[in-house]
Amino acid sequence: MLKSVARSSAAWRSQSRLARPFSQTLSAFNAKSDNTETAQFTHFGSKRVPKVEKEKLVRHVFSSVASKYDLMNDVMSLGIHRLWKDHFINKLDAGKRPNSTEPLHFIDVAGGSGDIAFGILDHAEQKFHDTESSMHIVDINPDMLKEGEKRAMEQQKYFNDPRVTFLVQNGETLDKIESNSKDVYTISFGIRNFTDIQAGLNAAYRVLKPGGIFYCLEFSKIQNYLVDSAYQQWAKILPVMGSIVANDYDSYQYLVESIEKFPDQETFKEMIQKAGFESAGYESLTFGICAIHWGVKV
Ligand SMILES: C[S@@+](CC[C@H](N)C(=O)[O-])C[C@H]1O[C@@H](n2cnc3c(N)ncnc32)[C@H](O)[C@@H]1O
Repeated sequence: MLKSVARSSAAWRSQSRLARPFSQTLSAFNAKSDNTETAQFTHFGSKRVPKVEKEKLVRHVFSSVASKYDLMNDVMSLGIHRLWKDHFINKLDAGKRPNSTEPLHFIDVAGGSGDIAFGILDHAEQKFHDTESSMHIVDINPDMLKEGEKRAMEQQKYFNDPRVTFLVQNGETLDKIESNSKDVYTISFGIRNFTDIQAGLNAAYRVLKPGGIFYCLEFSKIQNYLVDSAYQQWAKILPVMGSIVANDYDSYQYLVESIEKFPDQETFKEMIQKAGFESAGYESLTFGICAIHWGVKV
């Protein structure tokens, strides 16, 4: 599974213990006051909002797009999200191997639509004849989870299936998920919506067993100037498209801005390492429009 994980070690600079002159102490104090204020605020797209409010605002966005979720993804990615998701699932290549006696325990966080969770279970069955591994599909938004359950019902697979559990949970805490209980944690186009991304990574680390894999698909930073310029133009008209196809300008405006705010590939990799993961790495897809990130809990 995930043969291409690159070995790398996390190195963190230790704090200087030298005494500081008064001017530095003062600026440190000011910085601290700013930080205290910053600590209570966060961004919601390009707006600055109290942290306690963001969760509610994000929930509202996804409640309003839930019933037109595929349409939203198709509009936002020109349909390419399907290829990215297929690649994400194939690269992970998860499933109980024929020579193993232990089924795997998956968790797909922010997994409302079920796209990734069902795709992983299908892959495990088709490639490894694995019909035993279990899946927790976790999302903060009950409307998105209902959408996933509806799909399971329509496809007559994974609905009322004892292997599959739908659970309303904040990915930043995952407080109903036992520590060291999961083999694979996936999250697709979800983590950029978290109020505290680092808390989400720490929770992922907590719930994974030693040897477990963190595996994430998310929008990222475009590395090609021409593609970036084209994307910037596209991003300007996306909310207008959102208002035409879904009568929802604001949600699409938020989605564009949340992509802009998300850390670049290297910064996100460092955050994954900071949570404790080793062998962290990433693969940029379609010039870096999005990226797959991974890390292993040793
Ligand atoms: C763009 S959708 C992605 C859904 C699915 N993973 C996919 O790739 O199609 C983002 C999802 O993240 C969920 N979400 C946002 N903040 C969350 C949080 N703090 N904890 C859990 N889920 C969250 C939303 O409710 C929404 O279902």
